[in-house]
Amino acid sequence: MKQIGLIYGSDGGRTKYVSERLANIIGLDYVELIDVSTTFAEQISSFDKLIFASSTWGEGDLQSDWEDFEEKLDEINFSNKTIALLGLGDQKKYGNTFVNAIFLLYGKVKDANVVGQTSTDGYDYKESNSVIDGKFIGLVIDEDNQDDLTQARLEKWVEQIKDDFGIK
Ligand SMILES: Cc1cc2nc3c(=O)[nH]c(=O)nc-3n(C[C@H](O)[C@H](O)[C@H](O)COP(=O)(O)O)c2cc1C
Repeated sequence: MKQIGLIYGSDGGRTKYVSERLANIIGLDYVELIDVSTTFAEQISSFDKLIFASSTWGEGDLQSDWEDFEEKLDEINFSNKTIALLGLGDQKKYGNTFVNAIFLLYGKVKDANVVGQTSTDGYDYKESNSVIDGKFIGLVIDEDNQDDLTQARLEKWVEQIKDDFGIK
């Protein structure tokens, strides 16, 4: 079994695409890429290190497959796990609920060692629940408006989290 589970939910394919790119940067030997619509609580429990990726839909809601899975997260004991969150959103059109989805996931995994908080510099939005103590609680990607920044953001984030995730 690979050591990191990267669980993503994607309605339009962007989060899937960004998750695949992230997995490639980390290294495919380390990462098992799993669509949340195909997983189950025991599979997630089997990983000590996890990355959860979701886009935001509705008015600050989770991606639909994550929404379906949300209750099952309560069955998982996250206390000995290391988790990082990856959120996709659109800061221009949805600037009042920007990447709120990862805050909803954060609420479920709070017992874990949550790593990978990032600066809000370089983003232009009005409000986001996913900012705690002045930082995003994970990596925020905006493919709608800033796709040219995605690769550099992903690479910088992998550098940031690699020790926590045992990536060489
Ligand atoms: C109907 C609709 C509602 C959305 N609501 C939000 C939102 O509340 N906050 C946000 O940051 N982005 C919002 N978005 C933007 C998506 O999260 C963004 O386009 C994302 O890249 C989609 O990823 P996906 O293709 O993996 O689903 C919304 C997009 C649509 C079409």
